[in-house]
Amino acid sequence: MTGHTIEINVTGLTRSFGKTLAVNDISFDVYQGELFAFLGPNGAGKTTTINLLTGLLTPDSGTINYRGERFEPAKLTVKQMIGVVPQHNNLDKELTAAENLRVHGVLFGLRGSELERCIDFCLDFADLNEKRDTPAGKLSGGMKRKLVIARALLHQPKILFLDEPTVGLDPHSRRRMWAFLRRINLEQQCTVFLTTHYIEEAESLAQRVMIMDNAKIIAAGTPEELKQRVGQYVLDIYRDDDLENEFFADRAAALKRLEQLDLSVRIRETTLEDVFLQLTGKRIGGGKGNA
Ligand SMILES: Nc1ncnc2c1ncn2[C@@H]1O[C@H](COP(=O)(O)OP(=O)(O)O)[C@@H](O)[C@H]1O
Ligand SMILES: [Mg+2]
Repeated sequence: MTGHTIEINVTGLTRSFGKTLAVNDISFDVYQGELFAFLGPNGAGKTTTINLLTGLLTPDSGTINYRGERFEPAKLTVKQMIGVVPQHNNLDKELTAAENLRVHGVLFGLRGSELERCIDFCLDFADLNEKRDTPAGKLSGGMKRKLVIARALLHQPKILFLDEPTVGLDPHSRRRMWAFLRRINLEQQCTVFLTTHYIEEAESLAQRVMIMDNAKIIAAGTPEELKQRVGQYVLDIYRDDDLENEFFADRAAALKRLEQLDLSVRIRETTLEDVFLQLTGKRIGGGKGNA
């Protein structure tokens, strides 16, 4: 992926909590306009990374640059450029949808008719117009999540950070959320950086995926590139009670091998779950909660 403008450059980022090394010397780039997924199991260090990138935490060492400029959380320029959707919804349940946005807008320096225009636009964009006067606490899980996202978009950020945007959503709401995030990426021309522990979310949504495990980045690339690393096709070979995998660069090679085997065998395309398993020796989340 050459020829891309670098939106965020991270070098040697490290952060620990007491004896726990949460983020261990990670370096990566995020390109302008891409939908970028940070994939890893619980405890990998994803939230810590987002908190470092958005200034909620300070690093022990390492640098973060936004469009070539060193990130200093106290400086407003970058803060105006980013929107943040935290892992847990932090809406004011008593306030209506519109009021939640208004409070946020004021914090970002929006006032008067400009503020109202932004509120109208974001409620409309998130398809929450009809709920504008409903207390946030009375919205469904999917709507609450959308409202938090609408709020993060209010000041028209260039980069949207979302920490586990679809946790707790049912499979249908999750898919609708994916469509919404794609729309933000395309229609708002917003760089989207999301964390997830759902393989399918990273695989079907992101243009590039970075896999994190145990505070380290273990691989990064497009889903296709990551799969090519282990082989695009895989055989599930059932031996006694065991399942073994063999990977192949192409379908023809996999089929040739399949013909040699006198066992119960299935051929399929490689998934990011296979990639994760090959690179770490373990499954990402036991498949739990996958849409
Ligand atoms: N505030 C904190 N105090 C102590 N340990 C923390 C804190 N935040 C995160 N950790 C630890 O850092 C590691 C990474 O956590 P986190 O960044 O939340 O991972 P993820 O978001 O990938 O689940 C975990 O071992 C977690 O227990
Ligand atoms: Mg987390």
